Amino acid sequence: MSSVPQIRRRKRRTGSEPLVMVTAYDEPGARYVDAGGVDMLLVGDSVGNVVLGHSDTLHVTVADIAHHVAAVAAARPKALIVADLPWLSYHVSREDTIKNAATLIRAGAQCVKLEGGSNRVDMITALLDAEIPVMGHIGLTPQSVLAMGGFKVQGKTREAAEQLLLDALALEAAGVFAIVIEGVPSVVGTRVTEALAIPTIGIGAGPDTDGQVLVFHDLLGLSGRPVAKFVRQYADVGGLITEAVGHFVADVRSGAFPSEVETYANPTELLD
Ligand code: KIV
Repeated sequence: MSSVPQIRRRKRRTGSEPLVMVTAYDEPGARYVDAGGVDMLLVGDSVGNVVLGHSDTLHVTVADIAHHVAAVAAARPKALIVADLPWLSYHVSREDTIKNAATLIRAGAQCVKLEGGSNRVDMITALLDAEIPVMGHIGLTPQSVLAMGGFKVQGKTREAAEQLLLDALALEAAGVFAIVIEGVPSVVGTRVTEALAIPTIGIGAGPDTDGQVLVFHDLLGLSGRPVAKFVRQYADVGGLITEAVGHFVADVRSGAFPSEVETYANPTELLD
């Protein structure tokens, strides 16, 4: 079983293996991903894009995430379950933030993740005071899509890169146990990772972070949409589904399904 203190210690420069995190949204998905040997399962608000069909993560609610956390927790994974705090669940008050995070913990998460930098320190402190471990997320933060004017690579100027470094240091000082860095030039991923004692987990942040995360549907070829530059697709599960269902359709229409093997035997008395 992975735990927050174990993950916090996983810095590559001290000889640790890179961390691996993959998103999961339901019981079978969590079971298969866990069996693949990941360290963490992220019940991400990407559920809004890849499962619920939205074009952003802004429609995802605490109830949505709690529903999917419970399904993932039902798989009883060895991996640590990280739950995303969705947009507006940690922006209003400390009380709301703690209650929303507690809903996700009670649904089965072992920690929460939130987006933002030094502007989030107050809420992080509130969560840690309530004994809820927090993972940070900086760079291309999808909940800021409107403010950023789209899903754009961040930290491309010296000033923006320095701000990201300051944000990462502020999150570390506030007490987060790890930080996701998304959509930045690799030198930013490298410098932030070097500056921190806690692990960084990259997604489009180059090869030097302490770990990597990918979205389940992107990794497996299930997203059915053009994927970002940083995605490597390891299987075409979408293609396999279409092929398998196509065979089923053909078999039903030709009368080849069901055969005797898939049919219950008739008791003799019913045949009389
Ligand atoms: O919601 C999500 O899937 C994420 C990852 C992209 C890190 O936050």
